[in-house]
Order: sequence, then structure tokens, then C-alpha cells
Amino acid sequence: MTALIRPLNDTDLDHLEAIERRCFSTPWSRNQLSESVRHHAHLGLTLSHPSPIIGYAFFMQILDEAHLLNLVIDLPWQRQGLGRFLLEAVLNHLRATAAQSILLEVRASNLGARQLYAHAGFTVLSLRKGYYSTPDRTIREDALVMRLALCPTDSATTAV
Ligand SMILES: CC(C)(COP(=O)(O)OP(=O)(O)OC[C@H]1O[C@@H](n2cnc3c(N)ncnc32)[C@H](O)[C@@H]1OP(=O)(O)O)[C@@H](O)C(=O)NCCC(=O)NCCS
Repeated sequence: MTALIRPLNDTDLDHLEAIERRCFSTPWSRNQLSESVRHHAHLGLTLSHPSPIIGYAFFMQILDEAHLLNLVIDLPWQRQGLGRFLLEAVLNHLRATAAQSILLEVRASNLGARQLYAHAGFTVLSLRKGYYSTPDRTIREDALVMRLALCPTDSATTAV
């Protein structure tokens, strides 16, 4: 399997919207996705060219601090090392900039994602009480804030 990284564009929006709905209990709307393609940094993951996006990450950078806003691998492709591959691509992209660290929020109940980030070296910085809404909106869920210091590296993104 050869995984390819490329930037997202507006023609990916149908796929992004479908992936959001499959993978998140409270998915981003098409409008949020469209605004993020326009205003945030992003990387998309495909398996060959040309083929649809099967994973993506949105992130932003303010001076030396980056923030991971979203990272997802479509349901049929999970647990095959692609989340790790995409996360490494984001980190390598940021290491080539002035970013010194990256922060993210993750649902306390999202053990798979927490594990992915912990394996990449992220550590828990703090807890944000009631940060996330839930589908029925009656209760809210806590977020863990995780952080990773970014060390410059020459490593390039390679195939899985
Ligand atoms: C979280 C997510 C991106 C992981 O992507 P993935 O391609 O399935 O992950 P990988 O196969 O690269 O797994 C890398 C490591 O993460 C951890 N991991 C990933 N999914 C896991 C799960 N469901 N349960 C436990 N550990 C998991 C494991 O440590 C795994 O290493 P291993 O396979 O050697 O045990 C993916 O499950 C996803 O898109 N989930 C829905 C969206 C989401 O929750 N995004 C995170 C928002 S903060």
C-alpha cells in the first residue's frame, strides 16, 4: 500500500463531508470544512493518484506554536498505520517551519486517538471540562489537552 500526501482543495469537500459523518459523533459541517480548506493549513491522504481522499488533517500555526484542529482516517482504512503516517506528515511539515510545539484537544473517551498521540510523544498538559458537545447535547464531554515539543529533523514522509 502506497500512501500519498497532498494538500486539500474544494473538489475534496464531498469526500471530507462524508468522512466527517462516518467518523465523528459531532461532525464538522460542510461550511466549517470549506472555511478550513480556505483558511487553515491542511494535508490530505490518498492511496494512489488520482483517488479520493481517505484521511486528512487540519492545523494552524501562530508564531512558534501549532494547533492540530482535526485528524481523521476514514472508517474502512483505520487500524492500518495510516493515522500514524498522516500525523507524522503533519509533524514533519511543522518541523520545517518555525513551530516549536504542537497542541491538540482530544475527547477523554477517544482512547484510540489518545493512544495514537501518546505513541507519537504527546503528553497530557491539562483537562478542559465540558469542552465537547455530544450528539444529544444534554451532556458535555471533557477534553484532554496534549502537547508535543517539535525537534527539527531531516526525516521525509515515506510510504507506509
Ligand atoms: C484516531 C485515528 C485517526 C487513528 O487512525 P488509524 O489509522 O486507525 O491509526 P493507526 O492504525 O495509525 O494506529 C496507530 C496507533 O494508534 C493507536 N490506535 C489507533 N486506533 C486505535 C483504537 N481504535 N484503539 C486503540 N488504539 C488505537 C494504536 O496505538 C495504534 O498502534 P498499533 O496499531 O500499533 O497498536 C482514527 O481512528 C480516526 O480517524 N478516528 C475517528 C476520528 C478521530 O477520533 N480523530 C481524532 C480526533 S482528536
